[in-house]
Amino acid sequence: MITDVKEYKEKVEQAASYIKEKSGFDSFDIGVILGSGLGGLVEAVENPVEIPYEEIPNFPRSTVKGHSGKLVIGKIGDKKVVMLSGRFHYYEGYPMEVVTFPVRVFGLLGIKLLVVTNAAGGMNPTFRTGDIMIIEDHISFLMPNPLIGPNIEEWGVRFPDVNHVYPEKFWKLAMRIADEMGIRLEKGVYVAVTGPTYETKAELKLLRGWGADAVGMSTVPEAIVAAHMKIPVLGFSVITDIAIPGFINELTHEEVLKVASEAGDKLVKIVEKVIKEVDL
Ligand code: HPA
Repeated sequence: MITDVKEYKEKVEQAASYIKEKSGFDSFDIGVILGSGLGGLVEAVENPVEIPYEEIPNFPRSTVKGHSGKLVIGKIGDKKVVMLSGRFHYYEGYPMEVVTFPVRVFGLLGIKLLVVTNAAGGMNPTFRTGDIMIIEDHISFLMPNPLIGPNIEEWGVRFPDVNHVYPEKFWKLAMRIADEMGIRLEKGVYVAVTGPTYETKAELKLLRGWGADAVGMSTVPEAIVAAHMKIPVLGFSVITDIAIPGFINELTHEEVLKVASEAGDKLVKIVEKVIKEVDL
């Protein structure tokens, strides 16, 4: 939890100033958080500037295999983009203000849209491994809310509205673009669990009963902090495994990464086009 508001604000401000100075960009249009296996989007950036996390003042470091730990900055079409390659998960032991630190930095960099991607287990019986789901809404009861603690008034209100976190305008654009490319997109509710265990059968039954279509260990804290700063979110889950009691396989992180990177290629194409075409 943030205890010293002044100190936390200064840390975020220092990180944002460093990124502006190093990249030569004074403001940004879009922030992207790349989930497992989705690093291919980095190739869509023209003249990329890469900044390893270690170089950025106060920035956390990443510990998970398959997450490399750098910011990639540059233009995609006419949009100035800052991408987080390697996110921070609660299960790694980071407190929520560290998990969401990059989103605060993105907020100060002036982004007008946050694109988030993740790998998730598919709970809706119509989903197949390798499908991509647009996040229409989320469920966030199972992790601590990242806004618990003193509120930083300059960044947002004490009791933020979270009914418009994922505006229809953005996912409709993604749907149209995917349709034109002949790629099928699903749409549904993402539930965040803390991990690092995958779910038991009883847990999956419960989560499905709550209305979840996909389950994963990230994204929701980041989306809540974006909502606090009034930044709209466009979220995608790559369905890396089927999380339905009776159908679950022995799941390994390696399998999740493999499917994420195969299906990730489709998602990269969609996200690149969305970034080029979106009106902000
Ligand atoms: N459960 C939770 N997180 C996940 C899963 C899952 O089945 N697949 C990928 N991330």
